[in-house]
Amino acid sequence: VGGGVATTEVLARGAVTVKARLPRSSNATFLVEVTHDAGVALAVYKPERGERPLWDFPPGIFRREVAAYLLSEALGWGLVPPTITREGPLGEGSLQAFVPADFTQHYFTLRDNAAHDERLRRICVFDLVANNADRKSGHCLLGDDGQIYAVDNGLTFHAEPKLRTVIWDFGGQPLPPAIRTDLRRLLERGIPEPLAALLAPDELEALLARARQLARTARFPDDPGGHSYPWPLV
Ligand SMILES: Nc1ncnc2c1ncn2[C@@H]1O[C@H](COP(=O)(O)OP(=O)(O)O)[C@@H](O)[C@H]1O
Ligand SMILES: [Mg+2]
Repeated sequence: VGGGVATTEVLARGAVTVKARLPRSSNATFLVEVTHDAGVALAVYKPERGERPLWDFPPGIFRREVAAYLLSEALGWGLVPPTITREGPLGEGSLQAFVPADFTQHYFTLRDNAAHDERLRRICVFDLVANNADRKSGHCLLGDDGQIYAVDNGLTFHAEPKLRTVIWDFGGQPLPPAIRTDLRRLLERGIPEPLAALLAPDELEALLARARQLARTARFPDDPGGHSYPWPLV
């Protein structure tokens, strides 16, 4: 707890108090304080009630935030802050550990720093596997621990191809062997039950197909048409 990233324990058991509505959020997204015996933690609360309806995703987007966390954990990458579903002051939603971060930084300001290269490549592959339809630059946070975190992962896991991301810099380059190993391990072990339970059968099939395809192809894909970007970019 303290000033760092909260654990799922604290998120799941603590008492939730709304502190503020988050700026730059497209849904009703809140900064909350979670109070627990072990201490106090900040978290980002996305109640289903605050979701802006979308034509292509069913209600309950918050569950995809949790699924994204579970995928990142299943790959062993730790890209997504701990995220759970639970009841909060505005009903059921997701609760994600708040990352104390330098909010002036984002993908476009971080990509030229070699220290972040490996992590950003992982986020890139994570988005390909998760079929992220909304990887804006500002959804890559530079945490005070020096690590980059991927947030706002709700528009993921659609059964149809929907990839929209700002991370195309690696296109055509070889996939790092360690990443391919992690993908193969995920495929061998299978999608963990808690993650599978959050997805529709066709979404689960599509997830496996994307992971298999990436594990086979030796390179990061390109965006030849230049159309697969989110809007706004940051
Ligand atoms: N876990 C987090 N830790 C710290 N800041 C976050 C976290 N999640 C989101 N934010 C910040 O809050 C902003 C709004 O949250 P976001 O997840 O983008 O909401 P929405 O789904 O409504 O677009 C993000 O752009 C980011 O700056
Ligand atoms: Mg957002």
